[in-house]
Amino acid sequence: MTRFAKLFLTACGIASIIFPVQARYPCVPRDFDKGGTVCVCNSTYCDTIDPAERVTAGKYLVYSSSIDGLRLEKSEGNFSDSTLPSGVKYTIDRNRTYQKIFGFGTAFTDAAGINLLKLNSTDSQDKLLKAYFSSEGIELNFGRVPIGGCDFSTHTYSYDDVENDTNLSNFSLTMEDDTFKIPIIKRAQKFRGSSLKLLASAWSPPIWMKTNNDFSGFGFLHEEFYDAWAKYHIKFLDEYKKNGLKFWGLTTGNEPLNGIVPINRFNSLGWSPQGHREWIGNNLGPLLRNSEHNATKLLALDDQRFLLPWWLELVFQNEDAKSYIDGVGVHWYWDTLYPATALSRTHMRYPGKFILATEACVGDKPWDREKVMLGSWTRGEMYIKDIIEDLNHWVTGWIDWNFALNPTGGPNWANNFVDSAIIVDEEKQEFYKQPMFYALGHFSKFIHEGSKRVHLQRQKGPSALQTVAFLRPDQAMVVVVFNGRGLDVPLILVDPKRGTIRFTATKHSVHTVIYW
Ligand SMILES: *[C@@H]1O[C@H](CO)[C@@H](O)[C@H](O)[C@H]1NC(C)=O
Ligand SMILES: *[C@@H]1O[C@H](CO)[C@@H](O)[C@H](O)[C@H]1NC(C)=O
Ligand SMILES: *[C@@H]1O[C@H](CO)[C@@H](O)[C@H](O)[C@H]1NC(C)=O
Ligand SMILES: *[C@@H]1O[C@H](CO)[C@@H](O)[C@H](O)[C@H]1NC(C)=O
Ligand SMILES: *[C@@H]1O[C@H](CO)[C@@H](O)[C@H](O)[C@H]1NC(C)=O
Ligand SMILES: *[C@@H]1O[C@H](CO)[C@@H](O)[C@H](O)[C@H]1NC(C)=O
Ligand SMILES: *[C@@H]1O[C@H](CO)[C@@H](O)[C@H](O)[C@H]1NC(C)=O
Ligand SMILES: *[C@@H]1O[C@H](CO)[C@@H](O)[C@H](O)[C@H]1NC(C)=O
Repeated sequence: MTRFAKLFLTACGIASIIFPVQARYPCVPRDFDKGGTVCVCNSTYCDTIDPAERVTAGKYLVYSSSIDGLRLEKSEGNFSDSTLPSGVKYTIDRNRTYQKIFGFGTAFTDAAGINLLKLNSTDSQDKLLKAYFSSEGIELNFGRVPIGGCDFSTHTYSYDDVENDTNLSNFSLTMEDDTFKIPIIKRAQKFRGSSLKLLASAWSPPIWMKTNNDFSGFGFLHEEFYDAWAKYHIKFLDEYKKNGLKFWGLTTGNEPLNGIVPINRFNSLGWSPQGHREWIGNNLGPLLRNSEHNATKLLALDDQRFLLPWWLELVFQNEDAKSYIDGVGVHWYWDTLYPATALSRTHMRYPGKFILATEACVGDKPWDREKVMLGSWTRGEMYIKDIIEDLNHWVTGWIDWNFALNPTGGPNWANNFVDSAIIVDEEKQEFYKQPMFYALGHFSKFIHEGSKRVHLQRQKGPSALQTVAFLRPDQAMVVVVFNGRGLDVPLILVDPKRGTIRFTATKHSVHTVIYW
């Protein structure tokens, strides 16, 4: 109780008294020297999150996580009509609305599947999948699936290694699909209780289609294989459909810029925007729209924010390419250097094309000496900041990278190790839910598909907090409040239709407020 007492200290005695509702299965914390605190799960125990059941009109719920150890802890409060003028004041303006949300997700890589199956009991594996997808967990609704291998595989491979097989008569899925992807996606869907929105991305074509005859490095598609590479995508969709999995979306290829960078060391295909638009306009677009997968959303770019809107402007010079493309995928890797206004400008220029964040992870930089930093609150904050920033700049959803990695951040055949929201320790037969996991949950669990962003007007005080608000299809209002500073910030949140909420966002904490 002391943690709650600290968190809501200033709320007590003012207007609304908030008291905690005990989580059904609380976090079992473990501290790590270099990082911070993880929640430990095993075959018999894993923390769960209390459901956000509808509360009556005068009440609201708050879910809080903090550097002090809260992890999506639920509390309840009453609205007040007090106008005591202390704290940073935000007012919800339901009249000003923005984009609609598709959802939040993670990625079904070979590496993630391999790590899940290292947990030797089904109970343990189920607990991990439930943590991500079920109503006891963070309720993700998106899954990105690599078409064939990527660096997060144990080796390089393609679905058709028979040279010059332009008809793809030798195309076949691999053991990785049958073991690490398809059955695991199906288990995730079972826990979700509905289909996940699946998004497919290819890293590299078979090497015989490429100018450098290699999966990685400086390499492009031979023009004679433009059609074969487009067909390869359709074949993938066909094969997954035969296995009962339908894709919501397809990107035009993971990080096309990588194949242009001569130092690139993992699976890639280089494209200039000029080459890409020809392939999309003449090959991929027509094939996809004339196939039974014609409703699949096609996402351009699937690469860094700093390429926007320049890349799209060039791609859209081909009117056919423009007509086939539904939206744009962005990766987060240089977001701290390039302002999010690139996203707003993209939206303003092409309001009919949605923006979706399709990949993110920490520990990717050459100077990140600790690839996995168990329990790092700072890394959790990096997720929170980026998600709030994206959502405030027209982004319609946010998809994490590998759903589970091992304690060194792999496996990865190219040694491109990184961190992950969940780390599996095979030796101890445990898995660790990191702050990044709960960070994602502050959004994914509450901001359901179809939610619409509403304006939050800051009326007083400096911008000590970062915030974003959504009206859900069930008319719930969801407000996420993040305090990334080392001091407590009292907050006043006013909804003219409901009343006033006041609480203190303690140093380094994040809160999701929800009411109907
Ligand atoms: C909220 O108000 C109700 C009365 O309407 C009261 O019973 C309850 O104790 C209050 N809860 C809190 C947290 O103040
Ligand atoms: C799993 O974790 C719980 C809670 O920490 C602990 O009580 C239990 O002994 C663990 N079970 C195993 C099999 O390690
Ligand atoms: C929102 O719109 C309604 C009806 O158009 C209007 O009565 C109300 O004053 C507006 N509210 C704000 C906060 O602008
Ligand atoms: C699972 O792993 C644990 C820890 O290594 C071991 O004690 C146990 O026997 C294993 N169980 C099975 C079914 O392999
Ligand atoms: C594939 O086609 C290229 C160009 O037409 C040719 O040089 C090469 O020998 C062919 N390879 C095989 C195995 O047929
Ligand atoms: C591809 O299929 C077409 C028609 O089925 C056939 O004429 C052609 O020879 C095939 N090409 C190869 C390389 O197998
Ligand atoms: C490719 O497919 C053809 C026809 O389906 C088959 O005859 C051939 O053996 C296959 N080649 C390889 C290398 O699997
Ligand atoms: C899309 O494909 C379905 C069959 O899968 C077909 O019934 C429908 O007419 C197609 N729609 C368009 C717009 O081509």
